[in-house]
Amino acid sequence: MNKPNDKKFWSGRFSKDSAELLDRFNSSLSFDKRLYKEDITCSIAYAKTLAHCKIISRHESDEIIRGLNKIFEEIEIEKEKWFCENKNEDIHSAIENRLINIIGDIGKKLHTGRSRNDQVSCDIRYWLKEEIKQIISLLKTLRSTFITLGREYFKTIIPGYTHLQHAQPVTLGHYFMAYEQKISRDIQRFAEALERADVLTLGSGALSGTSYPIDRNFLAKMLGFKKISENSIDAVSDRDFIAECLFNIVLLNVHLSQWAEEMILWNTEEFKFIFISDAYATGSSMMPQKKNPDIPELIRGKTGRFIGNLTAILTLLKGLPQAYNKDLQEDKELIFNSTDNIKIILEITNEFLQNITFNTDRMLEAANSSFISATDIADYLTKKDVPFRIAHEVAGKIVAYCIERQRTFKDLSMSEWNTFHKLFGDDIIEKIKIESCIESKNVYGGTNPQQVLHAIDRANKKHE
Ligand code: ARG
Repeated sequence: MNKPNDKKFWSGRFSKDSAELLDRFNSSLSFDKRLYKEDITCSIAYAKTLAHCKIISRHESDEIIRGLNKIFEEIEIEKEKWFCENKNEDIHSAIENRLINIIGDIGKKLHTGRSRNDQVSCDIRYWLKEEIKQIISLLKTLRSTFITLGREYFKTIIPGYTHLQHAQPVTLGHYFMAYEQKISRDIQRFAEALERADVLTLGSGALSGTSYPIDRNFLAKMLGFKKISENSIDAVSDRDFIAECLFNIVLLNVHLSQWAEEMILWNTEEFKFIFISDAYATGSSMMPQKKNPDIPELIRGKTGRFIGNLTAILTLLKGLPQAYNKDLQEDKELIFNSTDNIKIILEITNEFLQNITFNTDRMLEAANSSFISATDIADYLTKKDVPFRIAHEVAGKIVAYCIERQRTFKDLSMSEWNTFHKLFGDDIIEKIKIESCIESKNVYGGTNPQQVLHAIDRANKKHE
């Protein structure tokens, strides 16, 4: 294989070779090399368009395509070697230089009417569309896992928390379906981001458009873009679609980080709500007894870099004058880093969830161990026409009374109940059982097991 040369396509007006340090600082090849497939695909479509619009001959276009296909094969066969010691400024120059190396002067026609400014935007959009589709597909798998778990545990009782204090009992199924909702919104957000990435920007030139009669709709159709961009200045400077995607990844991982935090807590000696399969936990090199939840910890930890990447792109964009500026080259490492990390997170979250054992006895015991049904005492009186504020006060006094005497609601005699309010009847004990508390939340979106099943039905109908 011949080494690609590294001629600078802008060297004409320069009287000196560029400094070695400038080359090192300026180059993006070390990271944008992963766009070689997209760059070649978009260039092939561009060459076809140039011939279709009679800007170059059919023969020239065929030669360019032959050369580009050869480069693709070369890279596929020996990726490491192809890029090793390649001194080109970026993936676009590396491929164009190699093309000229292989097919000679005809290769110099490929860039007719094109700038690296619209080229890089087109490549990255083409690449990102595929990434978003993969993320959506992984999200859909995760969503079905939450639904499956929701169905399996639709009537399993756990303590529900607010402020991490026992609040009201809920079902484990209802908890899983809460995550199904968050993930569904994430899917919607990525689908919307996909719409906005799905725009062909090639044909915008450096910033003002092109003076060649390029049929941009023909090009868009060939590359599978839904729309073509409306304004060439915007087209080469717009990175909203990257910022949006970085935001969607942050919010998605904020959701997963919340879940991860729960798994870490639930796995503690104090909670003991879950057991993690040995295949999905790690040990300590010093303390033999340790079994650590590294997976959820790393998921929680990676939120930092996702937020960092979003902050970086917004900071990068904020002061940029129109149109292209080299600052924009910094977009790639951010989006590569975030998409790579979120994809593995989605995969591992799904597997991790399927390898947890839920300690349902312990969950029930925990739910029964507190004053978690206090709201239902207030509701009991309220349903007998006591104003809620008064009923709340009465229930609060009963809680204080029990705490002081180290007793539970169940230990109270009927006469004790009636010292707090005369409207308490024998049925109060039944009404404040946690099963009854759960049963009574029979409202659309509530934790009553039948409502959870309805929610599962609705979820199954959606998105399919
Ligand atoms: N490597 C560059 C980037 O990623 C490609 C575009 C260069 N354009 C230019 N006018 N220097 O943004």
